[in-house]
Amino acid sequence: MNVRRAFRVAVLAGDGVGPEVTREAVHVLSEVLHAAGHAVECTEALIGGAAIDATGEPFPPATREAVRHADAVLLGAVGGAKWNTQPPTLRPEAGLLALRKALGTFANLRPVRTLPAMVDATPLRPEIVRDTDILFVRELTGGAYFGAKSRVADATGGEVATDDWRYTTAEIERVVRIAGSLARVRRGHVTSVDKANVLATSQLWRDVTTRVLREEFADVTLVHAYVDAFAMQLLREPRAYDVVVTENLFGDILTDEAAVLAGSIGLLPSASLGAERADGTRVGLYEPIHGSAPDIAGRDIANPIGAIASVGLMLRYSLGLPALADEVDAAVQAALASRARTRDLVTADEVSLGTRAMGAAVRACVGAVALER
Ligand code: IPM
Ligand code: MG
Repeated sequence: MNVRRAFRVAVLAGDGVGPEVTREAVHVLSEVLHAAGHAVECTEALIGGAAIDATGEPFPPATREAVRHADAVLLGAVGGAKWNTQPPTLRPEAGLLALRKALGTFANLRPVRTLPAMVDATPLRPEIVRDTDILFVRELTGGAYFGAKSRVADATGGEVATDDWRYTTAEIERVVRIAGSLARVRRGHVTSVDKANVLATSQLWRDVTTRVLREEFADVTLVHAYVDAFAMQLLREPRAYDVVVTENLFGDILTDEAAVLAGSIGLLPSASLGAERADGTRVGLYEPIHGSAPDIAGRDIANPIGAIASVGLMLRYSLGLPALADEVDAAVQAALASRARTRDLVTADEVSLGTRAMGAAVRACVGAVALER
């Protein structure tokens, strides 16, 4: 078969269940690409606690090099109790933040859908969650996460700590443009979440969002919401939302909350996008939303769907292969519809599949979906 294109993907498995779920995702990625006549070279590199153990740093220079030369980066998860006593800059999480910064991935896309097969897996009432389809766009390289931090003794014998929470006009504009263009190919609606009744950063956020949407996306409707009220409405009426754009910390919190709507956080993928390349694709970092889950690591029980669906997003946004992305999405849905279930998704009387078996179930469906076309 002719090799049509050759892709380089950096795989940063990380800690906990990271290696198990990325292994299944890489399997799906290679199979889908090879079946379509493409070549792919996956290079493994260290991140997080695994990198600290091997090199003393959570984001070592060799990893920085590996991701710089890759067409896309797949990440598992970072973190674990073992490294929690490290100073903040030497924790596994610092490696992930440094990676995001190095790649310039400022827009974090976190799609949250309640698939028909999953309606019963959520703790919420079916009539509330059914047909939920929200795309969160979380700003990822600014805000309190990246501002200057300090912690010093004060005159009382205690300490004082600060996190500088700042946003520039340009940082807000670029992520809002991503939200606007994604809304255009969805249902044409953007909700911008802030705390403009209290925070200066949110007042700027609101002004810039209003202007960008009005001037550049007149066909897209925009509604502003305060983060506290939004957190409640999200669970009361999730179908009211299409694209939700928000700053870094709010997005971190709200997307974990939103995971409840999908049935399990183990199902959810994410794409972190940076600069646009000449061919219209973007630099991208792809990772499941779930963490390293050290309590279940190494036991072949973690759900690989979040990682596998992240590969779907990679095909769409960084490899420029939307038809193959659709194939992966359809395969995930078909596997779930056939009642393939990992432990996080089963009800008491159902048998669950391990990580490997769930990966195999999705791969079996990829073949079937491709044959139908
Ligand atoms: C996430 C995670 C990270 C974040 C942590 C691990 C630093 O919670 O990707 O949502 O806060 O961004
Ligand atoms: Mg988080």
